[in-house]
This record gives sequence, C-alpha cells and structure tokens, in this order.
Amino acid sequence: MEVIIQPTSEQASVIGAHIIANLVRDNPACVLGLATGGTPIPMYNELVRMHREEGLDFSRVTTFNLDEYVGLRPEQPQSYHAFMWEHLFSHINVARERIHIPNGMAPDIVAECEAYEAAIKAAGGIDLQVLGIGSGGHIGFNEKSSSLASRTRIKTLTAQTQEDNARFFGRPEDVPMHVITMGVGTIMETRQVLLLAFGQHKAQAIVDAVEGPISAMHPASILQMHPVAKALLDDGAASKLALNEYYRWVYDHKPDWQRFVRKRSKG
Ligand code: F6R
Repeated sequence: MEVIIQPTSEQASVIGAHIIANLVRDNPACVLGLATGGTPIPMYNELVRMHREEGLDFSRVTTFNLDEYVGLRPEQPQSYHAFMWEHLFSHINVARERIHIPNGMAPDIVAECEAYEAAIKAAGGIDLQVLGIGSGGHIGFNEKSSSLASRTRIKTLTAQTQEDNARFFGRPEDVPMHVITMGVGTIMETRQVLLLAFGQHKAQAIVDAVEGPISAMHPASILQMHPVAKALLDDGAASKLALNEYYRWVYDHKPDWQRFVRKRSKG
C-alpha cells in the first residue's frame, strides 16, 4: 500500500482531490466509488472548488456510494443520500441519472443488493473507490469478522459504530441498526482505492490495516492485497505506524512524473 502522510487533514484532502481530479480529467467518463462520514468532507469541498474555479467537469462521471442506512428515506437529513447531495452532488455538474446509492427503503433488500452489484458491473466496474475507516477497522460497513470475499448485502452495525455515528443523530440508540454496504470483495474489485484517515482516534485502525496481518478481524487489512491502494493520512492517524519515517521518505522522493499535484496551465 502506498502511504502518504501529511501534517494536516486539509493538506491530505487536497492531495486526495488532485488524485480524483487527475482521473476525471484523464477519463471524463470514469466511475467513482464514494464514501460518506466526516472524513471525506474536506476533500469533497476541494473538488467543489475545482469544479467552480477550474471547470473540473463531472458531467460524464458515474458514481456509486458505499452504503446507506436501512429504514432511512433519502430526504431524511441523516441518510447518506442527503449527505451526498449536501456535501458534493448539489455543487457539481454530475448527472442525476448516473448517481447510485443503495436504497435503504427497498422492500426487498436482497434484490436491492443484487441489483446494486449488477449496476456496478454494467457501468464497467469502479475506477477509484474512496474509503474512510471506522475506529474498529471497518471499510464500508464491513465490520470486524466480515467475509473478506463479501458482496453488497445487509450488515448489522456494532455498538461502537453506532456510538461513533451518534453525532449525526443525537443519540446512539437513534442510529439505525442495519445498513446496506458494498462487500469487501466488491471493494477489492475496484481498480484503485483511496483510503482516508484523520486523527489520533484512527491510529490503531490504520496500523492494523497497513502493517498488521491480513485478517477478517481488521477488514481494511485486505487492502494490502489490492494492487493500487493509497492511504492518505494526517500525522495523528499515522502516529502508530512502525514505518512512519520510511513512508515520508518515499513520498518526499517521488519522481516528478509520479506526483499527484500537477501544474496546470491557465485557460
Ligand atoms: C461511510 C463509510 C464508513 C466511514 C467510516 C468512517 O460511507 O463507509 O466506513 O467511512 O465509518 O467514518 P468517519 O469518516 O465519520 O470517521
């Protein structure tokens, strides 16, 4: 895994936005996998800025979100539908018909999950998947002990995840118990993964994911087997990594052609 450590989450988020923008410019009809939660918000803000100020064009981009709560209507403010419109979709020129988010109100959850997998396939697969990580090590909502080969399905949140997400709801008991989430196997089929983690409270999950043994007890650790996975961290999230200094050394000595922040000519 390529580990990129920046002093602040803002700086790391700008790099993440450049990685996505480079993909969108190189392949305007690319397929993006998106995440919600607090972590990607500064990166989405930067993408919105690039759209407004630099004309970054999302008109041909297709998106698939990782997950949605079961039982929340799209218009409910805590739904991931509402989150995505608030933080990204309302501010860029993505086409509504190319946006995909699991339907947490689907009467037949199994059929909804199968249809979601089929839609990803029909779109040609996901070119780049944005991921956050739970303090317990989940990606998507694949909690500890999730099958590393799992596909999109219903999952039950841990009490820890409900507590972590209570800030969006008021009380932990108001956080829905169930979610629809892409599986670990679904995530592993994406062509590139961008894992974002910020803050000291993510440091243990990151050390388990990046340097620990691969185990369903730390679902993010399977990303060590992904051919193109980048972890974008701030100092806090990176603070427990044994090879911390080495990752910084590698990033500082990247050949120019491998750098993410490309010089752009005006006009
Ligand atoms: C969200 C998702 C989750 C979050 C994770 C971290 O779509 O799939 O895995 O990325 O729970 O959440 P934050 O960023 O709020 O710490």
